[in-house]
Amino acid sequence: MKSKYKHLSAKQPIGVFDSGVGGLTVAREIRRLLPNEDIIYFGDTKHLPYGDKSKETIAGYSTKIAAFLLEMNCKAIVIACNTATANALKEVKKLVGNRALIIDVVNPVSEKVAYELHQNIGVIATKGTVASGIYRKAIRKHNKFINVNELATPLLVPAIEEGFSNHPITRAILANYLSNKKLRGIETLILGCTHYPLLEREITQYYGKAVKIIDSPQIVANELRHRLGKHQLLNKDNPQPSYHFYLSDITRNFQRISRKFFGNKIGLELKVL
Ligand code: DGL
Repeated sequence: MKSKYKHLSAKQPIGVFDSGVGGLTVAREIRRLLPNEDIIYFGDTKHLPYGDKSKETIAGYSTKIAAFLLEMNCKAIVIACNTATANALKEVKKLVGNRALIIDVVNPVSEKVAYELHQNIGVIATKGTVASGIYRKAIRKHNKFINVNELATPLLVPAIEEGFSNHPITRAILANYLSNKKLRGIETLILGCTHYPLLEREITQYYGKAVKIIDSPQIVANELRHRLGKHQLLNKDNPQPSYHFYLSDITRNFQRISRKFFGNKIGLELKVL
């Protein structure tokens, strides 16, 4: 097969971006599945949350970040943000062209659930993701018989960014959202925002075993491994990979979670685009 990424090399880093700490759930999984890869992460904490911004604004932020990750010589860019995927995937793809592989967080997850035994799927996500209807469209492209019910849960990202994950307030907000009638009767729940796996324990506590929670970061990291492998771009010889984090505003919560996931030796740098 003639690869359109022939000019790229396996030694180049993988770029990952999100509005804040959410994408760290994806980056953590990438490191687990691909332990020889260097990772460059951009967290747009200055502009957070993306969930209530307009499409044009989100596309503007996302293309700037993608251009920065290209400058940093990334061979692949993982849009580890559902809201950016829903509002800016086309624009990012257009800007990047064949200069790097693009992996988003919605399509690999939608394709996987569409071919499993699901009938009633719930999706919780930001307002910007729900308004786009991206999950319903992406799942039903593969399987028209699945009911997809999307619910906007806008208070969760601010609570997570404030470090309120394991807190009675957040559990009360969650109980309020998850008891919404739109989610009645679901067998499966997609966490349609990369911040939400940080609440996975609380969500599982709410449902018990009644509802299957989809592990999006793992599906996305698998897709990345598959795509890199297909183009001979997997880094096989890098025993001491580097993890570098750029933030448009340094927040304590980001420092805390990035160190919890990646250890104390990571580089953390302010970068305003
Ligand atoms: N983590 C992002 C997502 O997956 C967005 C959070 C936000 O900034 O609203 O949608």
